[in-house]
Amino acid sequence: MSMNRRGFLKTTGAGLMAAAFPISLVKLAFGGQDPSRDFTFGYISDAHIQQIKGTQFVRNWDMGLIRAVREANLLSPRPDFFMFGGDLAQLGKKEELDHGLEIMSSLRGKVRYVIGEHDYYLDLGQYWEDKISPLYYSFDHKGVHFVVLNSILTDDSWTHKKWPSPMDRMLAMARLDNPNGSPFMVGDEQLAWLKKDLAKFDRNTPVVVFSHSPIQKIFKPWNFWTQDAEKVQALLKPFEKSTVIYGHVHQIQYNQIGNITFHAVMATAWPWPYPESYSQLASCLPKITVPMNRADPFFERDATGWQFVDMQNGKTAMHYQLPDNKNRTVAFDAATGKPQDVKYQDFSRRIPPQTHF
Ligand SMILES: [Fe+2]
Ligand SMILES: [Fe+2]
Repeated sequence: MSMNRRGFLKTTGAGLMAAAFPISLVKLAFGGQDPSRDFTFGYISDAHIQQIKGTQFVRNWDMGLIRAVREANLLSPRPDFFMFGGDLAQLGKKEELDHGLEIMSSLRGKVRYVIGEHDYYLDLGQYWEDKISPLYYSFDHKGVHFVVLNSILTDDSWTHKKWPSPMDRMLAMARLDNPNGSPFMVGDEQLAWLKKDLAKFDRNTPVVVFSHSPIQKIFKPWNFWTQDAEKVQALLKPFEKSTVIYGHVHQIQYNQIGNITFHAVMATAWPWPYPESYSQLASCLPKITVPMNRADPFFERDATGWQFVDMQNGKTAMHYQLPDNKNRTVAFDAATGKPQDVKYQDFSRRIPPQTHF
């Protein structure tokens, strides 16, 4: 495997910007494979746009999304398309979704959307469906089958219980560690749809699933969890190359379960701590994940970010773009059969935040 530097920076007219953010699309060349099938797409997630009142929104969350869009617009060659991974809004309000969409509208290229719980639990996805995107769907691109799931559903008895108001329901789901929340699930209706959708493809077709919550069980008290994850995994099992890319956890995670590769994406808003920091309860952070540095509070964008994804011969390489930190790439390694961040396997090479000074 050789590294091939291709494409480079768009002229921004600002040398400073170029120095601060040299965006290059680094392609991994695979001998003997069909390079015409290789492509990249961009991924932005968890913006959490939050209204204060009227036209006032939380500046920090706005700036995270604005920065990701600006940086993504500098990518050259252009990614084939973009995904937004959910939690565009903080409390599901029309004003928040509209403001988030307005920022996203300056992103150059086709954008598709995954719904998050912060977008859903105020009006149960009504505005999202009317204005932004279906809640679940699939599409095909250059021989890869992509599936978007709504993985943040929960029991009807919880969703439809007598809440004082829809906002009370939203607030119950919006808090990270609220004991009155409810575990996420994909649900039987969508599982039946997924089974039918995948039946059209043979086992050699690469499949990529986009979800908001992890389609694996990592830490239930914070809902880093999907209750029926194993049922989705069972449907993906026959496919030799399958990948699940999820948001929601606001941190780098990766895993391999059988043939299924898992990648988490970064938030543009804020980082969550790793569950293991809450040592009172056992967590199942995938053992192969090398955690990120602890966020440096002196840098408001540290431990936030966005990413672009290389699809090479149906396998994914996740390029994390991390403002105020070193970018990272987690790529599937055919030799070990799992995704790896080779540079960061060696803990002594990780960068403590103090290196900023
Ligand atoms: Fe989020
Ligand atoms: Fe979320």
